[in-house]
Order: sequence, then structure tokens, then C-alpha cells
Amino acid sequence: MRPQVVAHRGASHEIAEHTLGAYVAALDAGAEALECDVRLTADGHLVCVHDRTLKRTAQTPGVVSTMELADLAELDFAKWKNPWIDLDDEAPDRDEAFDRVLTLRTLLETVRDYSTRTGRRVELAIETKHPTRYGGLVEKRLVELLSEFGWIGPDAPVRVMSFSYTALQRVERLAPDLRLVQLIEHARNWAMLSRAIGPDWILGPGIQMLRDHPKVRARIAHSGHDLHVWTVNKKSDLELCLDLGAKAVISDRPAHMLELLDG
Ligand code: G3P
Ligand code: CA
Repeated sequence: MRPQVVAHRGASHEIAEHTLGAYVAALDAGAEALECDVRLTADGHLVCVHDRTLKRTAQTPGVVSTMELADLAELDFAKWKNPWIDLDDEAPDRDEAFDRVLTLRTLLETVRDYSTRTGRRVELAIETKHPTRYGGLVEKRLVELLSEFGWIGPDAPVRVMSFSYTALQRVERLAPDLRLVQLIEHARNWAMLSRAIGPDWILGPGIQMLRDHPKVRARIAHSGHDLHVWTVNKKSDLELCLDLGAKAVISDRPAHMLELLDG
């Protein structure tokens, strides 16, 4: 079976990452799952933002975890990707909500409503970002929110990912049936993680590490764990993933991956 195509931060090659616009475009392109990073705001909301600070994607000083949701909602998270859009008379009218900070709740509702409307199962790969001042509260809030949707069982269309082994252990304690993905960026971490992670945990290696470290690549490929590889944007990356039998490819270009896989 070919790998599942996961939209990394939405269709983020074309549209500003982690915006509703990027996720709607990914769904329209046929992505089978959506990846997002989550952080907690000062008033306890989970929002989909990759960086600790607002500098890159909202073009303003500030740290996500010290801001309240209402303050983040004032900011434009799309303009950095297309700074000249206001000058383009031919640009189509946009729904402003597409460019604002996206809460995880809204993303979950979007996926649930899309699946109900189309009958097409779409999954979510949710990454908790660490270190953060809130520590384990992030996973606690995440499991509470997923419980509201009834999405903590083994068939839930959700998996939780993290580079932090401790964070995934917390999720396992709070929601033992949720699928977990241990992300790995550096080959040097493999020895420790290979002994620590649960037998049914998925591995999420970076494509660069797989390329740069053939010995670790072979060990990971024969570890018995399913592989979800990131960030797979080129044909040659996809070919390597197919060779390794990856179960999911996480890509900024889901439409391109689907075209390569399904023609
Ligand atoms: O899907 C995993 C990947 O997103 C991890 O790296 O930095 O893009 O969150 P990063
Ligand atoms: Ca991520």
C-alpha cells in the first residue's frame, strides 16, 4: 500500500503555513491527513503555530505563550508569505478568517465537518512543541480537547507527535489508546530512543537524517516500527520513502506528492 500523504502545516508550499486557508487548500488537493504544531496561549488555548515567537509568521515581536488568544486574533499570519497581495488588483477576494491565527479546536472542527460532508476520512498528525513554559499542560489540554471530540480511542483520526519522548509518555498515560509518533531529527538520538519507545509507537525521522546516515537509516527501516517521514517535498525524497516502506509522507506539497503517487 502506498504511503498516506500528510499536508505539512497545510498546503504550506503555496499558502501561509498553519492558516485555515492552507488547510482548506490541502483538503481540496486531496491530502489524506493534516499535520500541525500546537502551542498554548497564556489563557490556555491551543493554537497552531510552529515558532516560539511571532516574528516570522506574524511579523511582530512577541512570544506565543505570553499572549492571549484575543491578541493573537488581531494579527495577520498570511501576509509574510505574500507581502504584495494588497497591491494585486487581480487577486481574488479572500475570507479574512483564512489568514488569522488558527486554534486547534477550529482545525478539529474543520476536519470533522469535512469528513462528515464528503464521507472521506481525513486524519490529523498533531505535534506538541517543547520546550515550553507550560510543560505537561500542553498534553493535558490536548487530550482534554480530543476527548471532547471523542477522538482518543484506537480508531480516532488523530495521532500525536513530538520530538520530546517525555511529552509522548505523558500522552500515553493520559490516553493509552492514542497513536504516538516519536519524531527524530538527529541520528545520535536513535540509540536511546530505540530502547525507550513503546513497541507500537510510530517513528518520525527527518528525510535529511535518513539521507545523511545510511547505517541509522537501515536500523530504523528494520526496527519494526511504522515510519512517517518529514519533510518530503521532492520526487527523490519520495522514492527514498517508498524504498523504506514508509507508511506516511509529510509534505509541504501534498498535491505534488499525490500527483507523483497516483498520477
Ligand atoms: O512532521 C514533523 C515535522 O513537522 C517536524 O519538524 O520543525 O517542521 O515541526 P518541524
Ligand atoms: Ca511540525
